[in-house]
Amino acid sequence: MTNPIFRKEDVLIEALPYIQQFEGATFVIKYGGAVMHDEALKSMVAQDVTLLRKIGIEVVVVHGGGKEITSFAEKLDIETKFVNGQRYTDEKMRDVVQMVLGGLINKDIVRRINVHGGRAVGVSGIDANLIKVKKHNDDLGLVGEVTEVNAAFIKNLLKDGYLPVIAPIGVDDEGTVYNVNADIAAGPIAASLDAAKLVYLTDTEGVKANGSLISHLTQSTAENHIKEGIISGGMIPKVESALASLESGVQKVHIIDGRVPHALLLEIFTKEGIGTEIVSE
Ligand SMILES: Nc1ncnc2c1ncn2[C@@H]1O[C@H](COP(=O)(O)OP(=O)(O)OP(=O)(O)O)[C@@H](O)[C@H]1O
Ligand SMILES: [Mg+2]
Repeated sequence: MTNPIFRKEDVLIEALPYIQQFEGATFVIKYGGAVMHDEALKSMVAQDVTLLRKIGIEVVVVHGGGKEITSFAEKLDIETKFVNGQRYTDEKMRDVVQMVLGGLINKDIVRRINVHGGRAVGVSGIDANLIKVKKHNDDLGLVGEVTEVNAAFIKNLLKDGYLPVIAPIGVDDEGTVYNVNADIAAGPIAASLDAAKLVYLTDTEGVKANGSLISHLTQSTAENHIKEGIISGGMIPKVESALASLESGVQKVHIIDGRVPHALLLEIFTKEGIGTEIVSE
C-alpha cells in the first residue's frame, strides 16, 4: 500500500519550481553541530549536497570542527581557552587547528561526498591564498579576520564541476597562518561568490525568541535581538555574519536544524521550509 499523504511523485513535483529557480545559482553551506559528529547525519548531508550539485546548483561547503580540535589538543596536552566564545589560539593551538581542520575533518567530509559521486575537493584558506586575513585582535592570539577571498579560484573549481569543501584557516601577507571562525568565514565567502543562499546547519531549530522559532527574521529585528541578548552565544557569529553577507549581496540566509534528516532538501525544495530565513528589509 502506498501512503496516501506522502506520494513520492508529489514530493518531486513540489521540488520542480525550486530546481528551475536555482539552476546555476551558488549556495554556500556551513556545517556545524551534529552534522559534524553524528555518523548517519554526516552521510545524509553528504548525499544532500551531492544531490544539489547534480541538479545544477553550485555548492560550496565551509566547515568548523570545534569539538575535534579541543579533543585533539587535549591528547597533545595543549590547554583550550575561550575568550568571549572564541578560541584563544597560540602557535601550538594554531598547529592543532591546521592539522585537525585542514587534514582530518576536511578530508573526511570530502571522502563522504565523493562516495556519492559528488566530486568534492578539499582546500584550506591557505591554498591559492583562498582566505586572506589580518590579525583579529591581540586578545585572541592567532585568530584572523577575513580581508579577502580568492573567489576566482573557487569559481574555477565550480566551473570544472568540482564541489569545494573549505577549511577555515587563513593566511596574512607575511604567510602567517591563522585560525578563522567558520561561521564568520562563511559570510565573506558567500558574498564573494554572489551566493543566492548561505545556509547554516546547526543543532537548534533555528533562531528562537522566548522559546519559539522565528521563521522569518529581518535585519532590524535581528540587530535588536542581539542587543537585547535574545540572540547569544554561538548564534551571534551566524547572525552577524548573515547580516553582513546580506549587505554584500547574498540574497537569503537560512539557519536550519541539521539534526533533522535531510534538513537541507526540506528547506530548499519544499514550500514550508524549516528553520529561520534572514532577509534584508
Ligand atoms: N536566539 C537563539 N536562538 C537559537 N539558538 C540560540 C539563540 N541564542 C543562543 N543560541 C545558542 O546558539 C547555539 C548554536 O550555536 P553553536 O555554536 O552551538 O552551533 P554550531 O556553530 O552549529 O556548532 P559548533 O560550534 O559546535 O560547530 C544554539 O544551540 C543555542 O544554544
Ligand atoms: Mg559554533
